[in-house]
Amino acid sequence: MSTESSIIVTAHPEFMQAAVAELKQLDTRLTIIEELTDSITPCSVTDIHALQQRATKERLVFVRHLAPAQKTVYLTNTEQDLIEIATEIADLPTFSQLERGTHFAVQSRFVQTNKSFGERPYSSGHLNQALAAAFGEETGAVEDIKKPQVIVSILCTMYQGYVGISTAEENLSPWPGGARHFAQTPEQISRAEFKLLEALEYFDISLEPGKRVLDLGAAPGGWTRLLLEADMQVVAVDPANLDQRLIRRKGLEHYRGYAEDYVEEAIRNRKMFDAIVNDMRMDAREAARGLAYASRCLKNDGFVVSVFKLPHATPTINPLLTLKDALNIMSKAYRVVQTHQLFHNRQEVTVVAAQPIRRT
Ligand SMILES: C[S@@+](CC[C@H](N)C(=O)[O-])C[C@H]1O[C@@H](n2cnc3c(N)ncnc32)[C@H](O)[C@@H]1O
Repeated sequence: MSTESSIIVTAHPEFMQAAVAELKQLDTRLTIIEELTDSITPCSVTDIHALQQRATKERLVFVRHLAPAQKTVYLTNTEQDLIEIATEIADLPTFSQLERGTHFAVQSRFVQTNKSFGERPYSSGHLNQALAAAFGEETGAVEDIKKPQVIVSILCTMYQGYVGISTAEENLSPWPGGARHFAQTPEQISRAEFKLLEALEYFDISLEPGKRVLDLGAAPGGWTRLLLEADMQVVAVDPANLDQRLIRRKGLEHYRGYAEDYVEEAIRNRKMFDAIVNDMRMDAREAARGLAYASRCLKNDGFVVSVFKLPHATPTINPLLTLKDALNIMSKAYRVVQTHQLFHNRQEVTVVAAQPIRRT
């Protein structure tokens, strides 16, 4: 198999087809080579660099990560592999991107780690460290795992390694496979916190102290905690209890009821918010209708961050149609609507909206 012009696409297993379809819009000759796992699919493309460049300009919803496969290395699962991989990478024309002072990372991913395929004498961590040390010494580039400008990507199956070099921007994420991990903290209330953290980072949104935020579907209170930590004034709406640690926190009001009722009341009483966040477990179209209505209590320069839950695909249900309907509803109420399937999203996407459309 020639991989000189192939790209490794990473997406959520349920949305891999949708991710490939998005990329086909950018390169009509893109074809799937094989499905390595349900979330990692190498595809042959006309021109890797051109596709990655186009992908950075489009706001793709389902493609989480792109890694170039500019060369294939045959692996013997011995220590010799490290030398072979290092040599092939150093021979790539794109190796010149590792210049003195450039911040870079080596990101290797292993698939088929099942022991029945045999043992590997090196781990991905070991590979990353050994190669980063060697390339850093050779080029003067500086290893920077958290904020790399340039990424050396390696994907190893049992007998093949796909290697390539590109910028973090071209990969659509500085994290291996787009897997943005956050450290757990003792204060954390729910795993849902990661979803909000990732959304804020991905959509480049900052939480401003003193601003008023409406948190719909707030319990047990992970998002509420993060909003309070940012010194925001929070109205947390949920019929369920909030975590004990949030009780009597300054800046928090818990409306123990349904979002529909609270929003109705807020509009009637002319309450206005700087932000609305929503993590309610409900159909995406229903959430969109609720948020479209709630736009009346969002300030002109306010924003919305919302999770849209999607159904699982069945022969009669197409989750993409549900999403299309929901986004249509949103775009009638907001001028700006952006969507992405984040690493911490499950059968759902995250939507950010701004500039509410006022109708008189
Ligand atoms: C996934 S949890 C939210 C997790 C929360 N964001 C966190 O960080 O802890 C979904 C919540 O939505 C609430 N919910 C579902 N429908 C609702 C509605 N119509 N009004 C208010 N809350 C609702 C549920 O009670 C549940 O607590």
